[in-house]
Amino acid sequence: MNILAEKKILVGVTGGIAAYKTVDLCSKLVQSKADVQVLMTQSAQKFVSPLTFGAISGRQPITDLWQLYQGAQIGHIALAQEADLLIIAPLTAHTLARLAHGMADDPITAIYISGTMPVMIAPAMESHMWEHPATQENLQKLLERGAVMIGPESGRLASGGEGVGRMSEPTTIVEHTRMLLGRGGPLSGLRITITSGGTREWVDPVRFMGNRSSGKMGVALARVARDLGAEVNLIYGAMSVDPPLGVNLISAIRAEDMLRETLAILPETDVLISAAAIADFRPVETHDTKLKKESGKGIELERTPDVLKAVGERRREIGKPRLVVGFAAETSDLVANAKHKMENKNLEMIVLNDVTAKDAGFEADTNRITILTRDGAAESLPLLDKEQVAYQILHRVRGLLGAQSIGWSPGIGSVLP
Ligand code: CTP
Repeated sequence: MNILAEKKILVGVTGGIAAYKTVDLCSKLVQSKADVQVLMTQSAQKFVSPLTFGAISGRQPITDLWQLYQGAQIGHIALAQEADLLIIAPLTAHTLARLAHGMADDPITAIYISGTMPVMIAPAMESHMWEHPATQENLQKLLERGAVMIGPESGRLASGGEGVGRMSEPTTIVEHTRMLLGRGGPLSGLRITITSGGTREWVDPVRFMGNRSSGKMGVALARVARDLGAEVNLIYGAMSVDPPLGVNLISAIRAEDMLRETLAILPETDVLISAAAIADFRPVETHDTKLKKESGKGIELERTPDVLKAVGERRREIGKPRLVVGFAAETSDLVANAKHKMENKNLEMIVLNDVTAKDAGFEADTNRITILTRDGAAESLPLLDKEQVAYQILHRVRGLLGAQSIGWSPGIGSVLP
């Protein structure tokens, strides 16, 4: 499962050197199982051959408006009506001007004015062209009509100079595509707060006590929750991966910071998912200067606050969040320990992972989990990549909320209106 699967995406390629990056963009979309149809202007074909796009997308690119008129259907109308999204990348100043004026003399411009699909543009041109009032006026027209613009970014340009005008990277465009297609999804209207990564407790200015958490599971949850339409807060500690676009980022490096930030956001949280590996102990004393080995000092430890326990208490007072999900990282007596944590921390759901497995848990891209809920159910899932694990967790969160949000529980003798 993923938000791009089976989505009909038209990718318009115009004549800029950045067209080579669009090959990678198409490859990424196709790998996510999107149904990609490439449209190319004449100039685009000077930069990259239609053969390349054909091989990557598995479909012959449309390079000529007349290619669309086969059989009884009016080709560009049918394509535009069926599309979930039109991405134009790179978008040159010339095609931008033609789009602004409603011209329809090639497949991209004709399809642009033939449908109501969302439109995403990734401009790419020299900075003088980008800054020219003619380009800016044209751009304004597209934005007013609802186009979503990605980039352009600053950096080295094809001329060898530096400036604004580089096309955004394919990974950035894919992220925006996922966000755009996720609008109005099954989790829309829900505010989900996710904690992620590992905490660090400082010994002195150069040393800390940390743990192996990479933040991959929390980031996957945040990205997928966003894809499904939720408003997402990500409270993050130390992570080896970048956080996703389109989520509200809150940094919290120590257990104390996690506690403060989590409690602060509870009134605006419907669902809290605590995926962070929060330290249970910290040094009693944090030294302002680097500890010298001659000092021969040991490190005395004390307990940190239990964030989920504190959430449980605050929740009783304010009635939020509606649902709290915890993680249990275990190495022995897995299910019994996880059940105990679920009850002890007053959670609706706990996600158990065996952190001794090599292909699951800390640092891995995959996870093998068991989901336990308060009704006693324990569901073990096969090895899945962390985004698929996130879908499984969020699907069950939605299920648990569903019954609550419509105020109905299937009690004995209850009759649906
Ligand atoms: N957690 C927390 N505050 C802490 C430690 C953990 O809120 N100080 C949360 C984690 O984010 C996770 C859950 O509690 O969702 C369980 O974390 P885990 O490390 O498995 O368990 P602990 O409660 O720390 O218990 P133990 O170390 O004894 O297994």
